[in-house]
Amino acid sequence: MTITKTYARTCGVRGVRLYDMRHVDDQSRGNLTVGEFGRDLPFIPRRYFITYDIPSAQTRGEHAHRRCEQFLICVSGRCNLVLDDGMHRAELRLDRPSFGVYVPPMVWATEFKHTADSALLVFASRPYEPEDYIRDYSDFLRLARLGKNKESKLPLLTT
Ligand code: TYD
Repeated sequence: MTITKTYARTCGVRGVRLYDMRHVDDQSRGNLTVGEFGRDLPFIPRRYFITYDIPSAQTRGEHAHRRCEQFLICVSGRCNLVLDDGMHRAELRLDRPSFGVYVPPMVWATEFKHTADSALLVFASRPYEPEDYIRDYSDFLRLARLGKNKESKLPLLTT
């Protein structure tokens, strides 16, 4: 049996954290991965949603949030995620249930290259609020660059 600790790292996009979540791998009983909100993860969720059965040519997301924080885990299959803070961009492959991505407000997120079995679980810090969305990329760039001097105060977490 292998047991790992939760480990978080940055990726160059402002405030984004990539999490290798604690996992307990057992060849005979199967695997488990876990995270505790409020301890391992930086917010307590108010909502979750799951995108699934996404055609492989389809692109989802393509927006940023003004206030909502999100934590994404591809719990089945795989998909790609591009994150953009208006200055820096990173492309990630979400390919295992023990890999989570924290997306703070004011980061533009786009998901694509979904496999047929892909299910993306998203925890959100706020209820669904259509007015929280920024859906126009040029509006996002303007707002993101206005706030570019505000650095994230989130600590890097290694438990
Ligand atoms: P949308 O934000 O376009 O999804 P994605 O970011 O994956 O591209 O949402 C699709 C539809 O679902 C839209 O009509 C709004 C609705 N929706 C809710 O009702 N509640 C929610 O929490 C979310 C995320 C979406």
